[in-house]
Amino acid sequence: MKKYDIAVIGAGVMGGNLALNIESKNYSVVVYDNDAQKTGKFIQTKCEGRNITGAASLAELASKLEKPRKILMMVPAGKAVDALIDELAPHLENGDILIDGGNSHYPDTNRRTEYVESKGLLYIGTGVSGGEEGALKGPSIMPGGSSAAWPFVKGILQDISAKVDGNIPCCEWVGEKGAGHFVKMVHNGIEYGDMQLICEAYQIMKDLLGMSNEEMHQVFKKWNEGELESYLIEITRDILAFKEPDGSSLVDHILDTAGQKGTGKWTVLASLDLGAPLTLIGEAVYARTLSSLKDERVSASKILSGPVPKFEGDRGKFIEDLGKALYASKIVSYAQGYVLMRNAAQEYGWNLNNGGIALMWRGGCIIRSVFLGKIKEAFDRNSALTNLLVDPFFKEKIESSQNSWRTVVTAAISNGIWTPALTAALNYFDGYRNGRLPANLLQAQRDYFGAHTYERTDRPRGEFFHTEWI
Ligand code: 6PG
Repeated sequence: MKKYDIAVIGAGVMGGNLALNIESKNYSVVVYDNDAQKTGKFIQTKCEGRNITGAASLAELASKLEKPRKILMMVPAGKAVDALIDELAPHLENGDILIDGGNSHYPDTNRRTEYVESKGLLYIGTGVSGGEEGALKGPSIMPGGSSAAWPFVKGILQDISAKVDGNIPCCEWVGEKGAGHFVKMVHNGIEYGDMQLICEAYQIMKDLLGMSNEEMHQVFKKWNEGELESYLIEITRDILAFKEPDGSSLVDHILDTAGQKGTGKWTVLASLDLGAPLTLIGEAVYARTLSSLKDERVSASKILSGPVPKFEGDRGKFIEDLGKALYASKIVSYAQGYVLMRNAAQEYGWNLNNGGIALMWRGGCIIRSVFLGKIKEAFDRNSALTNLLVDPFFKEKIESSQNSWRTVVTAAISNGIWTPALTAALNYFDGYRNGRLPANLLQAQRDYFGAHTYERTDRPRGEFFHTEWI
């Protein structure tokens, strides 16, 4: 009997599109869904003339696969993944490879890699970014787990991934255990940050400059032709131009409460655990939470007041400033995200390739942008770069944007326009570039009330002092 190259479990949109993508690269695919009707419908409607077959059970799926078996699980993150691993294991043999392509939390992937390996199997937890279209046409793929599995799946995963700069795949081995899902989680955190920054630019243009959706559409169009060019700027441009049948803008009819599935929150929790200041992404997560308090905000808006926004000055110049403020804030966001990855690499013993990660994010994923090419170049210049802000290219960018950035944040604050991410970015910059923060006073306070001790500027590090303050 002819054996198949790989199985995909989950015939939903992501699983189905990945199966179609894999087949389009000349691999044969078995598809299984625990809802047999879903499998049947997918095979009937999408797979005619294609090298894809359905399986009615996990036993049948296993019997149809070439060894070592490669099984891509596209099921909801959480308990479903653990349950599926346990259901699959009895049908598998030593060396077979389970791949989790969902948005799993990295500690779960750390644990599952050990568990699956203890059964003689291999495990890959991989981030897959790019939404439905990416899954079909080429996503960014961030695999980690059992490194012994990589040679067996490298060909397939790189073939189906997005390509940049000619034919470089946006898929490379990230590291052991949960490293791939960690990097995908940080990707999602950065996605939250990028989205919030764009939303703040929109709010400033709308509320301070009084611009129409059409005018803002034009600004985003222009931005997307320059250094801000990115998928998220591009879709924002298109969203602002999207009309209802009556000619009104759809975006104006959408309720202002943001959802979240948790990957942004995980990123911030990891940053607290790993001691990496991730202020911008933190604000972006809280911004969604604040937006979701719609009823409370509407009530508060009738009680609390602030300045009435009023813009005085050169609008054209201010819009240019806004573009620069956005770019500078984006640098901070990525700088923070990379610091988080560095701390995680130290904690978990991962050898993360920073430039390679930028390259993986350069195409296919939601945060794809020309900007990521610059990050790749920065790590090519110095693979041990401590912070993107001190790379010569980004340093120059920040320096040349700094006045614009301050103008925008000052205008937003003095006009009462909510800009948590833009402001957090500027504050991080001002903190990071400051050789002496007021933490001397803070340490004195801690020592005063709790004898927590302090180090002295005139003594070597590591010597601790206590003063009887009273
Ligand atoms: C991607 C996206 C994808 C998904 C997020 C959305 O990289 O393709 O990040 O993973 O759209 O889960 O997250 P929220 O629902 O939390 O916004």
